[in-house]
Amino acid sequence: MSSRATTQVAHRKRNDLAQYDDLAGQWWEPHGALAMLHWIAAARARLIPAASRSGAVLADIGAGAGLLGPHLAGKGYHHVGLDLSPTAIEIAAARGVTAVRADALRLPLADGVADVVSAGEILEHVVDLRLAVSEACRVLRPGGILVVDTIAATGLARLLAVTVAERIPGGAPAGIHDPALFVDRRALVQECARHGVELELNGLRPAFAALIAWRLGRRESVPMVRTWSTAVLFQGVGRKRG
Ligand SMILES: C[S@@+](CC[C@H](N)C(=O)[O-])C[C@H]1O[C@@H](n2cnc3c(N)ncnc32)[C@H](O)[C@@H]1O
Repeated sequence: MSSRATTQVAHRKRNDLAQYDDLAGQWWEPHGALAMLHWIAAARARLIPAASRSGAVLADIGAGAGLLGPHLAGKGYHHVGLDLSPTAIEIAAARGVTAVRADALRLPLADGVADVVSAGEILEHVVDLRLAVSEACRVLRPGGILVVDTIAATGLARLLAVTVAERIPGGAPAGIHDPALFVDRRALVQECARHGVELELNGLRPAFAALIAWRLGRRESVPMVRTWSTAVLFQGVGRKRG
């Protein structure tokens, strides 16, 4: 598959996990169909401080092929990746992640085992947001940090992340998102608070000039920058009450 091709997985139903098998060869391609995930992972990692103790665990829910890994280098975490996709898990394991096939809605981890829980670009794929948040907060230790990034349940996000992004080369693979699963920001913040995590949100977007340079093949990656609006792509970070 050409790494620059607009990848079509439209023969699958929206949000079908098998799409990640179809796209398995694209995970680590700087100009592949999943390239933007690398840029978002870099932005996510900036919210994660260095580990405060030896043996600290970072539970990466919906870890995919382990793209967060390189951005954790030197931070001192044992990176545990949890994902339902068998191909993604295999690639993550080959990249040094302790990779476990697991459902975000039923994590095979003990309560409070993680110093950091990362849920990057996963919440917009789960059928039960409340349960996913409850599981993420359950495995987080008191005083630990939750970082998330996801897509907002807004008309603007539906327009940009589905209608537009699926039609432009280098945009989202067709069918990868089901906009019905996009995340209600208020519900997310409320659920996290209910489980002891006060989540602070900020918007995120690609740096436009770098995005054009990337499209022209002049850059390998694009920095994600903060933006005032959380109406499309947004990050959240919060510490669990100790
Ligand atoms: C958009 S990718 C994000 C991967 C990774 N977090 C990243 O940012 O590179 C979404 C991932 O969520 C996984 N996924 C979807 N539903 C899941 C579930 N219920 N439990 C665990 N993983 C799930 C998919 O297999 C896929 O690897």
